[in-house]
Amino acid sequence: MLVINNIKDLQKWRLEQCNKTVGFVPTMGYLHDGHMYLVKKAKQYTDLAVVSIFVNPLQFGANEDLDNYPKNLENDINICKSHGVDLIFAPSANEIYSNGYPPKTTVHIELLGNHLCGATRKGHFDGVCTVVTKLFNLVKPNMAFFGQKDIQQLRIIETMVKELNMLIDIIPCTTQRTHDGLALSSRNSYLSVSEEKSALIVPKVLNHLVSLIKQGETDTNTLITDGINLISKTHSAKADYLEIVDYNTLQPVNTVNGKIIIATAVFIGNTRLIDNIIWGD
Ligand code: PAJ
Repeated sequence: MLVINNIKDLQKWRLEQCNKTVGFVPTMGYLHDGHMYLVKKAKQYTDLAVVSIFVNPLQFGANEDLDNYPKNLENDINICKSHGVDLIFAPSANEIYSNGYPPKTTVHIELLGNHLCGATRKGHFDGVCTVVTKLFNLVKPNMAFFGQKDIQQLRIIETMVKELNMLIDIIPCTTQRTHDGLALSSRNSYLSVSEEKSALIVPKVLNHLVSLIKQGETDTNTLITDGINLISKTHSAKADYLEIVDYNTLQPVNTVNGKIIIATAVFIGNTRLIDNIIWGD
């Protein structure tokens, strides 16, 4: 397995591999089995699996956890090695933003980025789209793998690739969870033992709303109020948002109808966790 930190070496490697298909898994590191599920899919579908590890400053707001974001490159390298990754690209911020920071050229996405995480994390998805575009231009993957855990990010990347005519297949991968149902996340490492217990409210509330829908409830206001109530009764939990949106437009819907996403962000203490369930078709 190769570990490359600079753009020149990456481009040289990609030219050498021009007759091979590349599956790309962009990450911010502190890797877990959720990330490795994406790697497994990349290995299934393509000749070579590339993982990038880069904590992208452009997608963090001023009061967010950029400086504290968990890091352990040595461990990440070992995990990738044991999962058959072919190349890790782990650049510095200076390497990625070598033309100055903040960059003068960014990718902006309308509408899909307004709700859910976009409402409270202004500029977040422009930061994601900009870095993912740069990484796509560097790695030149045939396929790229994204987790449904970050469903808004996935839908935005799918839209960006389509609208900017990027010749890359985006492959959605199902959310990987602990046996208790908690979605795996690098940010789970911030949780204390008691907070870990409180965090289980996140998958619980989503499953609860699905069971109400199965019983015939279609009014999204009723569902959301019920869900927010459940969260507020949980020790050290506070809902940032709980929304029910259309799968395609990511705009809130009044009635459960067609393919929808029930999505939530919940603060457990100071840790913000996100999760979602896709429902209908
Ligand atoms: P990061 O949070 O490290 O996630 C990298 C990829 O792993 C994303 O596609 C995410 O959806 C997926 N992932 C995380 N937890 C998962 C889980 N429990 N099950 C399945 N997939 C999971 O998302 C980012 O990094 C960044 O925004 C990035 C795309 C790298 C751009 O900086």
